[in-house]
Amino acid sequence: MDSELYQGHLERAAGFLQARLGDPPSTALVLGSGLGNFVDALPTHSSLAYGEIPGFPVSGVIGHPGKLTHSGGRGVSFCALQGRSHFYEGLAQSEIVFPVRSLARWGIRDFVITNAAGAIGRDFSPGDLMVISDHINLSGDNPLAGPNLDALGERFPDMTNAYHPDLRKTVLEAGRELGLEVKQGGYVCVKGPSYETPAEIRMLRALGADVVGMSTVPEVISLNHMRCRVVGISCITNMAAGILPGPLEHDQVLDTPDGSARILKTCCWHFWIE
Ligand code: HPA
Repeated sequence: MDSELYQGHLERAAGFLQARLGDPPSTALVLGSGLGNFVDALPTHSSLAYGEIPGFPVSGVIGHPGKLTHSGGRGVSFCALQGRSHFYEGLAQSEIVFPVRSLARWGIRDFVITNAAGAIGRDFSPGDLMVISDHINLSGDNPLAGPNLDALGERFPDMTNAYHPDLRKTVLEAGRELGLEVKQGGYVCVKGPSYETPAEIRMLRALGADVVGMSTVPEVISLNHMRCRVVGISCITNMAAGILPGPLEHDQVLDTPDGSARILKTCCWHFWIE
């Protein structure tokens, strides 16, 4: 899409959010596979289906309902994107990042990005929660490819601290104070949709990755471009291919263990209340 047209869509989406929801909260949460119902138990001020918001892509993957909620309570207020589009659906990465860019344009500065991921490292297992310390982009593309959108950020954004050290520390401390184990490690993003072969998992381990998934990295790149603060949290749903005997099933990946969903929720509350 022409970049002026894209920028116009973005301004319309941000204007729409301001008109429908008022001033932006400070924080947004992006919910990954199987975490879509994470905020259902929380008080919701308003909710908008992605289809209502100008320019938002509507995802077709099971487990991704596609709804923006504006929730709060206990003196905090935040937005959650329930459901996201993936690169493997055939969309351009610039389309995938449209929702987070719209939220940033509306005025949100802090983003908590969650995902489901497969464990590559032997120190990680299903049910673990991992704060992302850094990533490797093997998606084969970049959301900033093409003409730079100068109104959003610079041509060559720095990615040294793509996952903000203060926010990472806050989530790790929240886990510690609550007596919940939260790990930390590196995330590698692949395009999918096929899961990896055991040989690919051995390669990804040799590259230094701890977990593998098919999302997050495009959003994190575009939010760093817009100078937002990002923290990424992986919910480990399965051991990656070839680590255990037997094939991977998508159902298993959607089934984020209740334990990690609970830890994530508790950490998030702690994170916002601080
Ligand atoms: N591989 C890629 N993406 C994933 C996996 C996996 O094993 N688990 C959850 N998302």
